[in-house]
Amino acid sequence: MCGIVGYLGTKDAMPILLEGLKRLEYRGYDSAGMATISDGLNLTKAVGKIVILEKELKRRSLAGSIGIAHTRWATHGEPTIINAHPHVDCEGVIAIAHNGIIENYRTLRTLLKREGHNFKTETDTEVIAHLIEKYHEDASLEDAVQKALAQLKGAYGIVVISTKESRKMVAARNGSPLVVGVLDKEFFIASDASAILPYTRDVIYLNDGEMVILNSHSYRTTTLDNKDINKEVEKITWDLEMIEKSGYPHFMLKEIIEQPQSIKNTLRGHIQPDGIEVKMNCLQNGFPKAMPKISAIKLLACGTSWNAGLVGSFMMEKILRIPATCEQASEFRYRWPVIQPHTLSIGISQSGETADTKGALELAKKLGSYNLGIVNVVGSSIARLVEGGLYLHAGPEIGVASTKAFSCQVVALSILNLGLARYLDKVQPLENKEPRVTDKDFKRISNELIVLPDKVQQVLDAVYDKDSGQGIIQQIAKEFKGINNFLYLGRGYNYPIALEGALKLKEISYIHAEGYSASEMKHGPIALIDKNMPVVIIAPHDSEEPISYDKIVSNAEEVRARGGRIIAVVNNGDDVISKMAEWVIEIPNTLAHLVPVLATIPLQLLAYEIAIMRGLDPDKPRNLAKSVTVE
Ligand code: AGP
Repeated sequence: MCGIVGYLGTKDAMPILLEGLKRLEYRGYDSAGMATISDGLNLTKAVGKIVILEKELKRRSLAGSIGIAHTRWATHGEPTIINAHPHVDCEGVIAIAHNGIIENYRTLRTLLKREGHNFKTETDTEVIAHLIEKYHEDASLEDAVQKALAQLKGAYGIVVISTKESRKMVAARNGSPLVVGVLDKEFFIASDASAILPYTRDVIYLNDGEMVILNSHSYRTTTLDNKDINKEVEKITWDLEMIEKSGYPHFMLKEIIEQPQSIKNTLRGHIQPDGIEVKMNCLQNGFPKAMPKISAIKLLACGTSWNAGLVGSFMMEKILRIPATCEQASEFRYRWPVIQPHTLSIGISQSGETADTKGALELAKKLGSYNLGIVNVVGSSIARLVEGGLYLHAGPEIGVASTKAFSCQVVALSILNLGLARYLDKVQPLENKEPRVTDKDFKRISNELIVLPDKVQQVLDAVYDKDSGQGIIQQIAKEFKGINNFLYLGRGYNYPIALEGALKLKEISYIHAEGYSASEMKHGPIALIDKNMPVVIIAPHDSEEPISYDKIVSNAEEVRARGGRIIAVVNNGDDVISKMAEWVIEIPNTLAHLVPVLATIPLQLLAYEIAIMRGLDPDKPRNLAKSVTVE
């Protein structure tokens, strides 16, 4: 995610800020910038790596012993110099760096424009600069910041400086972390402590709803409504590497554990308060005239994104009543595909740079398809190639094995599906004139999406115990770490989970693992089953779905009859398959199309734990690259 650094002290701010930015690089970013105050405001920004900013700073060094800097991971507007932080007000008096997302920025932007403010960027952050400008006319910087923040909806960690009060820095937090480093006559601010650690281990952690006002010699901490608070100065005892991974030994584990928050970020702003509408720009104005209806949907993706796409194709076909297929982009582009008129293609990619997915979308477009994208990296090649779509906002995924992107892709597909259902009911009603989703069902799905992050947390808490190492997942991993083959079985929505569970295991533990549809088992893989074969049976179910639990029960019987060792993933309280299994992993009930989010998490953790127990580095599996930008 984005990174913030600030410095107010006696030394040159520039090298300290630059060093801080370098220490935040691991978080992922696409552009960076810095602002200092000397005679006036000095500002430099660059797209790409910090070294590019560094080169710029060599050309025109920024003077001053107060300054702020930022690494941006684009959310609103592409990664360009203009969109990079810090952002300034109309007069270039105020500079601000911001992490987070301002949900009501469109409304505020319209209001501020009406009042005569001149906007230069596509970002949500710029509204904060103009709001502060408005109040700073006749108020101190901290009062202006407080008034501005009172108007924002969303999440933020901000740091602000102003040439009108050139020895003051104000920072505030609501949802995005900020830490203040304290030294004699020097202060540091950062979105994570790694940027501060070389200078001081004495820090104040701001909580949500708190701000700090730094001056040359002192600081004051208050609530956002200006009540003084006493904050304890704490000592950092961690080392740098631990901070970068937030204390987790690997990025992969960190990214698995942070899924409740990532999913919240994906959902943010889409579900409307009435629960019977979703909002997304790509559907707001409808499709162009050349696309008066949708005759077919093609989901195009690779690897984990393809597994998520498969879930998407099932849910879309069920609700939209339009043929929806998910194709491996790498295959699609090298056969002779037929694209029917009025086909909607949806490219799914975490990185937005996968060459095969990009190539498949280009081919689909050439054959007449209208393309949307579900992408995590803002401004990536695929995001730019498609006509519109949804960003995941899952934050940078650094572990090579994709984890949080998968759950966010399934959530994004569910949101898009709801949006398409409403859209199609208007432009292409079903023959029987019934709505594709009734208001009641719509509400049920949106309610379930809203509680999904809590259910993900429940799964994490129930199956994995980081401290004792005795969680069910750790026990299963211990039991099977020496095995050379694994079979994963599921039906319906649980079939893509089987594929994803097997993919995770082979990627990072190098164990041969097959993901198969349980219904196909009799047609071949059953021959593999003997007393040495662990079989992961994925069987959570939604009683309202036609997928018959009884059928997977029969598959489990068949496995047991051949001596296979069953590891079952089931709903809480399951009392049929659980009784046949050697190991049982329970997850909360949810709607069938959201089961993949909950049921995949234990399988991600299982792959991770087995890799660790085999002495492998899950963040850097052999032969694999994080984004496959070549064919
Ligand atoms: C997942 O763990 C893999 N590393 C890989 O399958 C990945 O999902 C695939 O290469 C697609 O990447 P993308 O989502 O960035 O397009």
